[in-house]
Amino acid sequence: MLSISRVNGIKGEIAVPGDKSISHRSIMLAGISEGRSVISGFLMGEDCLSTIGCFRGLGVAIDVTQEEIIVEGRGLMGLREPQDILDAGNSGTTMRLLSGILAGQNFLSVITGDESLRQRPMARIAAPLREMGASIDGRSDGRLAPLAIRGGGLKAIDYKLPVSSAQVKSAVLLAGLYAEGTTRVLEPQPSRDHTERMLKAFGGNIAREANTIIVKSSGLYGQRVEVPGDISSAAFFMVAAAAMPGASLKLNRVGLNPTRTGIIEVLKAMGADITLDNITLSGGEEIGDIIIHGGELQGVAIGRDIIPRLIDEIPVIAVAAALAEGKTTITGAEELKFKESNRIAAVVTELKGLGVDIIELADGMEINGPNTIKGGEVKSYGDHRIAMAMAIAGLFSQKPVIIEDSSCIAISFPEFEAKLKEITV
Ligand code: S3P
Repeated sequence: MLSISRVNGIKGEIAVPGDKSISHRSIMLAGISEGRSVISGFLMGEDCLSTIGCFRGLGVAIDVTQEEIIVEGRGLMGLREPQDILDAGNSGTTMRLLSGILAGQNFLSVITGDESLRQRPMARIAAPLREMGASIDGRSDGRLAPLAIRGGGLKAIDYKLPVSSAQVKSAVLLAGLYAEGTTRVLEPQPSRDHTERMLKAFGGNIAREANTIIVKSSGLYGQRVEVPGDISSAAFFMVAAAAMPGASLKLNRVGLNPTRTGIIEVLKAMGADITLDNITLSGGEEIGDIIIHGGELQGVAIGRDIIPRLIDEIPVIAVAAALAEGKTTITGAEELKFKESNRIAAVVTELKGLGVDIIELADGMEINGPNTIKGGEVKSYGDHRIAMAMAIAGLFSQKPVIIEDSSCIAISFPEFEAKLKEITV
């Protein structure tokens, strides 16, 4: 249980933990590369530890030290048949991206996850991977994990993504590394492109033409990876500072890949004072400092086109909207129903319970503000981003917000409470 009370202000300068998406991919690409990779800034959250566990299960030696992760790559064809079931825990990224790699292996793997992950849709990856030639079975005709994958002998496909999903795109691209021919993936709207950028940095044969990503089989070579701070973790503090008049906060060395910066655009459209500084490039990823000064926010319309670029930030954007003057609409976000929880239902139910004027829509939500947040008990649904969004609501609440089952925060941000204490007065 976590209890968060109203604060008088926010000020200071902190770094947020490493990017979750990039941390997962660094272990995966390092594991199938030739030679050693050294990863710094890695997120030691439970999801990324699940990825490390799976790759150890596939025979990859991974040394975790205080500063760095050292991965002894086994090359594209060097993974070993796991002796036991691989456990992706709560992590959709682990299960879906790893399935793409396992589809290329001439052996049997079984992969499972926790209760939440075992309810999440897997047909979206099983369908294209089967089309490439992998044999994939699972509960409910292969739609749900545990999944049993017997890979090998893949043929390239041209695949138009039916949903805008970086996980599905990445699964097909990773399988494409093992396929005969040229794999093409057409995405309806741009989603996070960390897989593409990192594959290029590891020496992969990958290119983009308009909305199509093209990959051919090629060897990868171990690299040094510097993982930037996670903008999805920074988002909680960005909202807190932006909505608190007088606040002044600097978030250092955050990843600013344009496929992830939708949150900055939305907060600016709401009237937030946000500036970026010190922007550099590392491993093909933009990194910089985010400086926020607090003030009054206004409601905004958030539509389908920008959703993939802020998909994980919607729970905390809803908190910003609750504090903002006027109406906020979030539409075209039906994918939120398939996250670690049904995030439309979870956000609407819990914010309503705190006294917020919020309506559930089939593909999003509508919020009318400004609201007085009353406080009280809320549920996390075992979903880290719901728990942290509710904690941010607590900073503005009349009475404390008490989050039941807050241990899930460790999935992506183990130091959340400590960092929050550091910046609040
Ligand atoms: C992720 C992609 C997104 C996102 C998830 C991480 C990734 O999921 O919500 O937290 O690392 O590729 P979808 O691909 O299902 O949209």
